[in-house]
Amino acid sequence: MSARTKTTISTLRARKREGRRISMLTCYDYTTARIMDEAGVDSLLVGDTYGEVILGHETTLPVTVEHLVTVTAAVRRGAPHVFLVGDMPYLSYQVSREDAIRNAGRFMAEAGCDCVKVEVDRRLAPTVEALATASIPVMAHLGLRPQSIHALGGYRAQGRTAEDARRIIEDAKIMEQAGAVALLLEAVCAEVATWITNSTSLPVIGIAAGAGCDGQVMVMQDMLGYSSGHPPRSAKRYAHLHPQLLEAFSTYAQEVAQQQFPSDDTSTKMEGSEYVRLKELLGGAAS
Ligand code: KIV
Repeated sequence: MSARTKTTISTLRARKREGRRISMLTCYDYTTARIMDEAGVDSLLVGDTYGEVILGHETTLPVTVEHLVTVTAAVRRGAPHVFLVGDMPYLSYQVSREDAIRNAGRFMAEAGCDCVKVEVDRRLAPTVEALATASIPVMAHLGLRPQSIHALGGYRAQGRTAEDARRIIEDAKIMEQAGAVALLLEAVCAEVATWITNSTSLPVIGIAAGAGCDGQVMVMQDMLGYSSGHPPRSAKRYAHLHPQLLEAFSTYAQEVAQQQFPSDDTSTKMEGSEYVRLKELLGGAAS
């Protein structure tokens, strides 16, 4: 693998102009971040899906700034070359613009992000504008917004009707005018995602939004096959780790139970003479 240069927002803009697709994955730890950086993935998102796939919650709502700033900083240490996106969790930007700037600033200053992502519709345009004014680059996440799951009434594709599609297309334009540097479209009908991508100069990343976007993002656990169940329809499995991990963990458990692990060659032994001295020191009590 040749030495990588740092991927910046200028790189992503150039990729859009040249029609070269952008790869993005979610990542939640230093070790995996190192591998993804080495593999040449363009961008990493430390998403609030952390709450679901790492913390085991039903939704992303319990995730805090504290959780994500810590993990995002670890991912940055592992992946110095990627375009790193910090995900602003629930209620870290919706309450006030001051809160939004202060919390987003932590992702930039403490975690080393290249931009922050916020789940928005047109009502949050003033917040995106306030962040942009504070020199904080923003990726505007439109379409299915998991932080609004209770307001949206469930996980369903967005933009199914002409009116709904027009509303999302207008929201994308409003976000561009508010100063967003990139868009992320989640579970938006493919025609709508392609329309938005072709009518903006901003790089557009899609998930479950068809092939017309400038780039794609997938949740790492879905693409690696961590779970035994079916992945979401929009995801593709590039590895099947579940059976391999299951076998490794159960073999380990059996070997410990049967005293096959650890073996002598994984242990450190004292010099024989030192062990004799130890027994003398302990009055010959050691076995
Ligand atoms: O939090 C996340 O992982 C996301 C992706 C699903 C885009 O927002």
